[in-house]
Amino acid sequence: MLVLGIESSCDETGVALVETGDSPVPRLLSHALHSQIEMHQAYGGVVPELASRDHIRRVLPLTERVLADAGLAAADVDVVAYTRGPGLAGALLVGAGIACAIGAALDVPVWGVHHLEGHLLSPFLSADPPEFPFVALLVSGGHTQLMRVDGVGRYQLLGETIDDAAGEAFDKSAKLLGLGYPGGPALARLAQSGDPQAFKLPRPLLHSGDLDFSFAGLKTAVLTQARKLGTGLEERKPDLAASTQAAIVEVLVKKSLAALRQTGLRRIVVAGGVGANRLLREQLDAACARLGVRVHYPELSLCTDNGAMIAMAAAMRLQAGAGAPDKRYAFDVKPR
Ligand code: KG4
Ligand code: ZN
Repeated sequence: MLVLGIESSCDETGVALVETGDSPVPRLLSHALHSQIEMHQAYGGVVPELASRDHIRRVLPLTERVLADAGLAAADVDVVAYTRGPGLAGALLVGAGIACAIGAALDVPVWGVHHLEGHLLSPFLSADPPEFPFVALLVSGGHTQLMRVDGVGRYQLLGETIDDAAGEAFDKSAKLLGLGYPGGPALARLAQSGDPQAFKLPRPLLHSGDLDFSFAGLKTAVLTQARKLGTGLEERKPDLAASTQAAIVEVLVKKSLAALRQTGLRRIVVAGGVGANRLLREQLDAACARLGVRVHYPELSLCTDNGAMIAMAAAMRLQAGAGAPDKRYAFDVKPR
């Protein structure tokens, strides 16, 4: 079965082709991505209306490109998958509408995929895919969750953020430091030249005994420090960036280790945009190496939003017999 996947939940338009077959993990044939980052940069954040309009412009040319790259024709597609949510309503509707139009034109079924399931299964796109069961740390701009994953569609939430997501903590702190959008990578870059111990910032819920997170207080603490520094902020920005990153990463690593202890599992998968963070990877790798736990990441370029993970999630569901796409072409989206 050839699955065409379309991602349009936020500021990246992604399209990909994944094929199910005899091997346990479906195969990525081609994928293409258009990032809107440059377009939104002038506004300091994502402008939903501009995002929707740009998705409209990009989806079909990207679809033609992935078909050409794979040496296939539209008529070869068996199922069309799109991101059903969560995300920006208008942006999601573009992907859903185009997916249904393609599905209807080709007379093939269409399937709405949960964006987070895409992230969760994205490590299966790597050359060395994980085996079930595993703990998953899902860290994106909108979500921070720890999950127990026993198979495709068999997900148990172990803990999650009670306020801001980890990516949001990066983005909001970056904004306070005047680093623009997208904040996470910018803050991480600046942190490289700073001292992570320069400022004492809170590690909320670190010792709460459960697997929940809270990051809202951190951005307030960063704001307080920035105000205290006043005109001296400019010079100390790298130190404040490094201290902020260290606080976020410490909480993510310690809670991940607690989830491994609680479940007794020996494997962890990290997914979502914050999974691209170098310090997080270094510290988690080091801690897990000491415990003999395997850590899996998606390829760096597939940590942030992309079409490959949506096509892969649909293909893995098809292969596992977990639900069936249909030809109703009732393109529903779930922004929240
Ligand atoms: O998964 P993603 O692309 O989109 C959502 O589904 O939210 O994640 C985007 C988030 C943003 O908050 C971005 O700042 C963060 O991931 N991010 C990073 C890094 N790269 C992306 N945060 C820290 N360090 C990075 N290198
Ligand atoms: Zn995402």
